[in-house]
Amino acid sequence: MDYPVDMSVKPEVTGFFDPLTHTISYVVKDPSSNSCAIIDSVMDIDYAAGRITYEHANELIKFVEDNDLKLEWLIETHVHADHLSAAPYIQNKLGGKIGVGEHIITVQNVFGKIFNEGTEFQRDGSQFDALFKDGDTYKIGTMDVFAMHTPGHTPACMVHVVGDAAFVGDTLFMPDGGSARADFPGGDAATLYDSIMKVLALPDEMRLFMCHDYGPNGREIKWETTVGDEKKHNIHVGEGKTKEDFVKFRTERDATLAMPNLIIPSLQVNMRAGVIPTDDDGNPMLKVPVNGL
Ligand SMILES: [Fe+2]
Repeated sequence: MDYPVDMSVKPEVTGFFDPLTHTISYVVKDPSSNSCAIIDSVMDIDYAAGRITYEHANELIKFVEDNDLKLEWLIETHVHADHLSAAPYIQNKLGGKIGVGEHIITVQNVFGKIFNEGTEFQRDGSQFDALFKDGDTYKIGTMDVFAMHTPGHTPACMVHVVGDAAFVGDTLFMPDGGSARADFPGGDAATLYDSIMKVLALPDEMRLFMCHDYGPNGREIKWETTVGDEKKHNIHVGEGKTKEDFVKFRTERDATLAMPNLIIPSLQVNMRAGVIPTDDDGNPMLKVPVNGL
């Protein structure tokens, strides 16, 4: 599929790093208007205490307000398994539409079963304001954005491209970080490889913004690279690495990884577009499926 790349548009991108989950949230601003989008916001949770707070989200809200921006979109690159989305909290304060990939429905079906959700949990993506298909376009102010379906890490992963900037979610990590795991339900290493190749087919000068960075080998945290840099230097898919190499490596590595600390609360909240589920009395409540994952 031919995507409508326009490298002449240069959005202003500000990253906000959350040290607890190693997530980077972005404010993406149209240089020709005050419109912006927020990509992959984080809601703070002290899981041991069952306590939710909003420091990280408030920082994003303050940035939008201090710069007099108009928030048009809250984008989730995928259903994250390692942090909770703050999209509804931010939407409540600033407006904007919450968007995710259409394959959220697959994710809702898989985890709806695992968490034994009742029929009140709709598995049709209706918790979100927009469901993107591969190649769909939308606007942030005067800028055109397009979404590329990039499954493999999860079925609903999408990369969002606006002008010369692409928000890759967990499709790729920084070159020295390689790639994200592909062993969650619905994940697949060979599919992830094909998705990464779609991203690396974008122009070499395209700026790429990561959703996570773990500072491998003690280096400082970074979240921006380019397609050209990933093609040359990515330790999992860069020059000289074949699909077979990747699938073998990824499968072996994933078998050694522990579940992310926050996977259980994250999935329950994020498959509902960031809304915390409630019990029969309407109180916010999370479940733990014993030996369910
Ligand atoms: Fe992820």
